[in-house]
Amino acid sequence: MYRVASIGGDGIGPEIIREGKKVLDAAGEKYGFDIEWHDFNIGADRYLETGEVMTEDDLRELGRFRAIYFGAIGDERVAPGILEKGILLRIRFHFDQFVNLRPIRMLSGTTTPLAGKGPGDIDFVVVRENTEDFYVGIGSRFRGSQKTLLSVERELYHAEFNLDIESDADELAYQIGIISREGAARVIRYAFELARTRRKKLTSVDKANVLSDIYGLWREVFSEQATRYPDIVTEFTFVDAVTMWFVKNPEWFDVVVTPNMFGDIITDLGAMIQGGLGLAPGGNINPGGTSMFEPIHGSAPKYRGLGIANPMATIWAGSLLLDHLGEHRAAAAVVSALETAISDRVVTRDMGGSASTSAVGDYVSQAISGN
Ligand code: IPM
Ligand code: MN
Repeated sequence: MYRVASIGGDGIGPEIIREGKKVLDAAGEKYGFDIEWHDFNIGADRYLETGEVMTEDDLRELGRFRAIYFGAIGDERVAPGILEKGILLRIRFHFDQFVNLRPIRMLSGTTTPLAGKGPGDIDFVVVRENTEDFYVGIGSRFRGSQKTLLSVERELYHAEFNLDIESDADELAYQIGIISREGAARVIRYAFELARTRRKKLTSVDKANVLSDIYGLWREVFSEQATRYPDIVTEFTFVDAVTMWFVKNPEWFDVVVTPNMFGDIITDLGAMIQGGLGLAPGGNINPGGTSMFEPIHGSAPKYRGLGIANPMATIWAGSLLLDHLGEHRAAAAVVSALETAISDRVVTRDMGGSASTSAVGDYVSQAISGN
């Protein structure tokens, strides 16, 4: 028996989570476990009613679970950033979910926009650092010109810019990225361990040629860790180049580890090459704490309640959740049931089919039960 928290959230979130729970329950029945779901009312509706985005109570309650099953947040009635930062990022940071695990795997039966590539070519995992980098929330806007910034920068960092920029601009903004030695080390170690269970290749993605302080440290830590894993083949790539290689030679990649913001960007690209955002799952993992599993896509408010949203990314995220709980056979069964639904063309409109959200959930559940 497992106790799992669930947050449907906004837009299509509640309907896709409903299908995900249905499928995980079917997997439990087949593989001999029960899930006791604890639903949390967190999201735009409650925020608009009570003004609360996330309360201390919510966090304390959520902290009693090893896993949270998360739909999506984001609502057109709320200014961008409030719910994203107040809920999603808050949970990731509060529970120190330092690994954002994003499989980029083309399931059989799906199509990729990459000409000449098939399921055997697109099968890697992005391990995105999830608690540092430009996501730490340190930044500000203030009065001043570009010159002010440069002089502040000289003072603070002894930057050696010999620029003489006159500017009329009267407002400045900056945002700071932070990488810590231990923060980088722990996620890089996780990626090395994961590579050990796979094809034993690990690619580090950074931009150390320009952002040389922050990603210079990242590289140094990567190199240190690499000496402890002589069985793993390693390589460095720059983030701009990696977007090119994902498209040209996805088969080169096995495990990819990267700082937070680059991980955000390259996993949307990854989602597209593996068959679309409707299929891309993610896990926010704290191996010793409370982890959260969600589709990579957002809440798509305009499709809310129409029964056309694709629940597959959420169902796949449910498979990652089962893996996390140690139910590996059930987790694998969920992914093969997705493949069954895809080859039988029981898919939603975004994947070229006409099945409803709940018809996909039903079909995947039956595919698990019937096996
Ligand atoms: C993601 C999303 C989030 C992120 C947003 C909604 C805060 O884009 O999970 O990739 O940037 O991490
Ligand atoms: Mn993103």
